[in-house]
Amino acid sequence: MSTLSISLPGGTWTLGDLTVTRFGYGAMQLAGPGVMGPPADRDGALAVLREAVDIGITHIDTADAYGPRVTNQLIREALHPYSDSLHIVTKVGAIRDEQGGWPPARRPEDLRRAVHENLEALGLQTLDVVNLRLGDAQGPRPGSLAEAFETLVDLQRQGLIRHLGVSNATAEQVAEARSIAPIVCVQNMYNLAHRQDGELIDELAEQGIAYVPFFPLGGFSPLQSSALSAVAARLDATPMSVALAWLLRRSPNILLIPGTSSVAHLRENVAGAGLSLSDEDLAELDKIGR
Ligand SMILES: NC(=O)c1ccc[n+]([C@@H]2O[C@H](COP(=O)([O-])OP(=O)(O)OC[C@H]3O[C@@H](n4cnc5c(N)ncnc54)[C@H](OP(=O)(O)O)[C@@H]3O)[C@@H](O)[C@H]2O)c1
Repeated sequence: MSTLSISLPGGTWTLGDLTVTRFGYGAMQLAGPGVMGPPADRDGALAVLREAVDIGITHIDTADAYGPRVTNQLIREALHPYSDSLHIVTKVGAIRDEQGGWPPARRPEDLRRAVHENLEALGLQTLDVVNLRLGDAQGPRPGSLAEAFETLVDLQRQGLIRHLGVSNATAEQVAEARSIAPIVCVQNMYNLAHRQDGELIDELAEQGIAYVPFFPLGGFSPLQSSALSAVAARLDATPMSVALAWLLRRSPNILLIPGTSSVAHLRENVAGAGLSLSDEDLAELDKIGR
């Protein structure tokens, strides 16, 4: 564990036997526009990854579908050989089509191929955490995950995956996965304005399972709310800082993976997530997304 990570806001969390900083980094924004193709500024993308590790972040979220392959290859180029403290979380279950869509690819053969492609692109022999990505671009969809999840459990038994998680999942699918094998995390959309998973977060916290919100800053449409702007103005902070600090405060099992393609934004986000929110701030922020 890097000594610097101790000063990152939120401290650490344990994914199975892996200690990660609660302040992590989501690498999706490093690919080109629409998460397709290479970045316009390749050196800039490599610099963001190196900065993330230099400031002590030990949790990077990625997927081979980003680019596709682009983000994983950037991570490998910037950071391989990886330090023992760095944990890369990837996901399988969707591929990319020529229009930039994210069609599901959850047949056993798709998942086996995806795990091997992630291993190869990242230059690893074992993937620390693999999330089974369910649903579609519009969000979670009901339905059994058994066949797909059991395929990943089999790959885990073969030693290719250390820990499992699910993403874009309904509460029922989370429960179904847990009835098949232990999971260490759930990665779903959640932020100040989008709080459908409130109950699930609390249940997972009781079970010691991490909840990793994607789009913590609103994703492709930045969070906009007058209450958020008012609290940010009062604290002389940016709305993004308030949004990240609120998530860290919301529950101890929440891990942050804000995305950025900018070293300056990465630094701003780390500093901003450390903002201290008063009860009055929290009460005002609680009006958003209710
Ligand atoms: N499981 C899934 O289905 C799924 C889906 C989506 C995402 N994810 C994961 O979740 C991670 C986070 O999601 P995300 O990156 O899409 O959305 P996000 O973290 O909510 O927001 C990223 C956006 O905010 C901007 N931004 C970040 N910091 C900023 C700052 N300080 N000032 C101004 N703008 C700032 C970024 O632009 P700049 O580049 O200009 O900073 C980018 O456009 C992804 O990286 C990915 O790993 C998972």
